Amino acid sequence: MTLTVLVAYKTRSTMLDKLIYIETFGCQMNVNDSERIVSMLAELGYAPTNDPATADMILLNTCSVRGGAEEKVYRRLANLRIYKRDGKKQIIAVGGCVAQQEGEELLRKLPYLDLVIGTHNLHLLPDMVIGAEHGERRSETTFIDNEQRLDLFPSIKGESRLSRFVTVMQGCDNFCSYCIVPFVRGREISRRSKDILTEVRQLADDGVREVILLGQNVNSYGSKIDYEPTFAELIQQVAEIKGIDRIRFTTSHPKDMSDDLIACFGNVPKLSGQIHLPAQSGSDAVLSLMGRGYTRNSYLEKICKLKTIRPDIVVTGDIIVGFPGESDADFEQSLSLMEEVRYIDLFSFVYSPRPGTKAAKLHDDLPRTLKMSRLDQLMELQRRITREISQTYIGSIMNVLAEGEGKLPGQISGKADIGRIVNFTGDVSMIGSFIDVKITKAYPNSLLGELYK
Ligand code: 5AD
Ligand code: SF4
Repeated sequence: MTLTVLVAYKTRSTMLDKLIYIETFGCQMNVNDSERIVSMLAELGYAPTNDPATADMILLNTCSVRGGAEEKVYRRLANLRIYKRDGKKQIIAVGGCVAQQEGEELLRKLPYLDLVIGTHNLHLLPDMVIGAEHGERRSETTFIDNEQRLDLFPSIKGESRLSRFVTVMQGCDNFCSYCIVPFVRGREISRRSKDILTEVRQLADDGVREVILLGQNVNSYGSKIDYEPTFAELIQQVAEIKGIDRIRFTTSHPKDMSDDLIACFGNVPKLSGQIHLPAQSGSDAVLSLMGRGYTRNSYLEKICKLKTIRPDIVVTGDIIVGFPGESDADFEQSLSLMEEVRYIDLFSFVYSPRPGTKAAKLHDDLPRTLKMSRLDQLMELQRRITREISQTYIGSIMNVLAEGEGKLPGQISGKADIGRIVNFTGDVSMIGSFIDVKITKAYPNSLLGELYK
């Protein structure tokens, strides 16, 4: 899932006399890391801004999941450096997976760059920023592949919001043949359940109503530690915490989607009715080359079980087109999988080889134009499916966590149990509550509704 997010938060009550501008690329892990960075740097007096021109510090939180990521970062930095000209004292920093990969090389190539911070080194950032304020240039990209990584992981402090990510595990052991994540994020390490539960209790005390359990592959949570609960058990434990009324999780690997976890969608009412379950392809031949560890049929069986247990469940997914050797027939299988699953949203990617991965050694034989036309076809189909599903919601009642004011006056915006954004007429006193809303109109990315009395 690739998105670009500008992090914008309200300022805290502490003296915030400097501004930081953060651009976040890539997955929710990165969005969450950016929140951590904002929280850490608030203690040094930095408040977030959406304007790089006025910022005292600019940070790019990067993602290297897809090809061209490095060039994109260089281009973006070149654009952003204009704000540093005229002798302005401005710190420019790069974090995330590209920083992890490139390390000091970035400092060598870019004389105006001040800091490079790897994926396991966030705890060093305040110290690095203090150094940079005094003209020090520094790169920290030590890879930590043991449990110490968790102890060093800074927590998010301060300001309460209604929905928060809680990291349950980091890294990945799957080594899907196309994926760079295990190389830049490290091997899978689960957090202790007692630490997770303590954090969730604290969030509940701070007024948080929804938690999103986060990890590269949350459903293999605890599988390496005998005495820790399974992910299904962890969800049940989180559900017992008073004040937390909705639980989501992301992201899941189909091969680790156990029957116990599927059963949670039936017996844990607080568990949201939406699941992100990336298939990557609908063709067994491609799935095998990708090293995914499941077949089209076993994937569809899991979807079927989920829909049996929770008939209104909505599924989102990821599909890669143009994997080496993907034939027309293989691609057709992905399209037909989409029709069978009926994803409400799909994140689609054109395959790009990542250095060091197994698939990078395969002959990438498909012309770019073919890959692009497959992507267009797939996106066209998805637009139709999204539209059709969304239309079925008109007239239904959805329970919405009111999270803030909408874009239009008198409008409140929130998220339904199925994860869709719902805008409805209401007033600010509703923010923080779960409100029943009758859906009146469906848009491609959101729903419109009115109060249901
Ligand atoms: N090329 C294209 N897409 C990729 N993804 C991961 N690696 C690659 C790659 N090399 C996609 C997968 C994954 C999502 C986060 O990014 O679909 O689920
Ligand atoms: Fe990458 Fe596969 Fe791990 Fe997902 S499960 S992060 S695609 S290696």
